[in-house]
Amino acid sequence: MASTHYTPAQLALHWLSAAFIIWALVMGFSVMLLDVTPTFKATIAGVNVSLSILFIPVFAVRTWLRLRHLRDHGHRPGERLAGVIHNVIYAVTALVLVTGVLMMDRPIQVFGWVTLPQPITDPVWDHRFHTLHAGCNGLLGMLVALHVLAVVKHEVVGKPVLRRMWVAR
Ligand code: HEM
Ligand code: HEM
Repeated sequence: MASTHYTPAQLALHWLSAAFIIWALVMGFSVMLLDVTPTFKATIAGVNVSLSILFIPVFAVRTWLRLRHLRDHGHRPGERLAGVIHNVIYAVTALVLVTGVLMMDRPIQVFGWVTLPQPITDPVWDHRFHTLHAGCNGLLGMLVALHVLAVVKHEVVGKPVLRRMWVAR
């Protein structure tokens, strides 16, 4: 049966993911494009790498909840396109996470608590995955902008979609 409602877990994970992804995109592109000190750049890169690793299990649970929701309810009638675009957002986020891990040119430090080994030690492949990471981030940034504009457009024409992502049933 089609359901117009998200569960409380889906709501919480949507807003947690949105906060992290917007932070990582804005800070990642800012330190890349703006003239900042090497110390500031390294600090932001360290924080972002640590947060990104912690985000991976959050994203895995969120994806599992979405797949379960789609299996039980399918896409909402008349909203197939929106549903497919949401799936594309999931896929591009997964690509950003995978390329981020694979591009690491040093061991992966998580706030100094744990150190994971560098997955690929060939600098040529690290560079290729960095290029892919930047490309996937550009795509994700565009999808997020489109997503927020679509929410605003629906609210303006009187379709209260924000309420769906705010109030659980
Ligand atoms: C949704 C998750 C992520 C987002 C939104 C994100 C976003 C970004 C952005 C916008 C940049 C700047 C563009 C670039 O240089 O490519 C960047 C760079 C970077 N990302 Fe990610 N990233 C994510 C996940 C990861 C993961 C999982 C890792 C590794 C564990 C990672 C490691 C890095 C590194 C090392 C840089 C280069 C920093 C530098 O030295 O300039 N990222 N990321
Ligand atoms: C201020 C920023 C944001 C607002 C206001 C917002 C709002 C919403 C709303 C209202 C919905 C429900 C749409 C519907 O059911 O038709 C939704 C769903 C969704 N949003 Fe966002 N969102 C924001 C940021 C993000 C970000 C940064 C991402 C990830 C990159 C994201 C990914 C998704 C996905 C994948 C869905 C589909 C539902 C699901 O999680 O399975 N959103 N969002």
